[in-house]
Amino acid sequence: MSTNPTKQGRLNSKVAIVTGAASGIGKGTALLFAEEGAKLVLVDLHEDKLNEVAAEIREEGGSCEIVCGNVGLMATAERAVARAVDVYGRLDILFNNAGIMPVGDILDYPEETWDEVLQVNLKSMFLMCKKAIPEMLKGNGGSIINTSSVMASLTEPGYTAYSASKAGIIGLTKEIAVSYAEKGIRCNAISPGWVETDMNVRLADSLGGMDKLYPIIKQQQPLGRMATTREIAYAVLFLASDESVVVNGSNLSIDGAASAAI
Ligand SMILES: NC(=O)c1ccc[n+]([C@@H]2O[C@H](COP(=O)([O-])OP(=O)(O)OC[C@H]3O[C@@H](n4cnc5c(N)ncnc54)[C@H](O)[C@@H]3O)[C@@H](O)[C@H]2O)c1
Repeated sequence: MSTNPTKQGRLNSKVAIVTGAASGIGKGTALLFAEEGAKLVLVDLHEDKLNEVAAEIREEGGSCEIVCGNVGLMATAERAVARAVDVYGRLDILFNNAGIMPVGDILDYPEETWDEVLQVNLKSMFLMCKKAIPEMLKGNGGSIINTSSVMASLTEPGYTAYSASKAGIIGLTKEIAVSYAEKGIRCNAISPGWVETDMNVRLADSLGGMDKLYPIIKQQQPLGRMATTREIAYAVLFLASDESVVVNGSNLSIDGAASAAI
């Protein structure tokens, strides 16, 4: 686990579910949440990688459960929320983060791929919220953070279902925020730009290697490089913690000024 010089117990006594926790932004956030005192339920398709993340957290004295399953299915949402309540007795934070990004022109884009992207990226959040909100209402409320993308509002050819799913996440986020604000549940979206994760390694492979991707990143993201997963995780930590108690229904750009550029 990476050293956290500012470890302050910002999530002490909180219970959090993190989806897509086996790699990338989900893994980076799970590690930071654990360092800040949260007890965790990690959800992903990949059991071996989930176990590795869980082992890393437990080695540092953290508490961690894993649920292996497809976030697009109600059964996975039920199992994840039940695990949090059975093991830790409550649920305070839900980080809906799992996502996929198959690219292709709309004319060649298979209908099944469209359905799968909408199911994994958007419907999963509806399902997780349906199961998580009743448990949050039994406690002191909660914080839900949904991973959207800069590509919800700025896109380029080929992001057929991905951009649609990420735009839908922002609508869902606002609806939950206004419906449950009075009851102490907050719901915010994050919109990362380019981030160093396997998702972009796969994209680079499809373009012919990282050398092909770097000039695009430099041109699109004024920061001039990809964000690290740790840099994204710190923004999620703020939204998860009580420090952001009045931040609700927002969509936080974490994109090195990509969405500010012409
Ligand atoms: N990497 C970026 O530049 C970037 C930018 C903006 C938004 N995002 C979003 O961030 C989120 C995390 O992506 P990442 O970059 O860390 O990618 P990643 O591929 O490293 O991680 C995604 C994780 O989600 C899991 N997952 C995929 N489908 C699943 C399913 N059906 N059920 C359960 N788990 C599933 C994968 O196994 C993987 O562990 C995604 O929603 C992605 O769209 C990424």
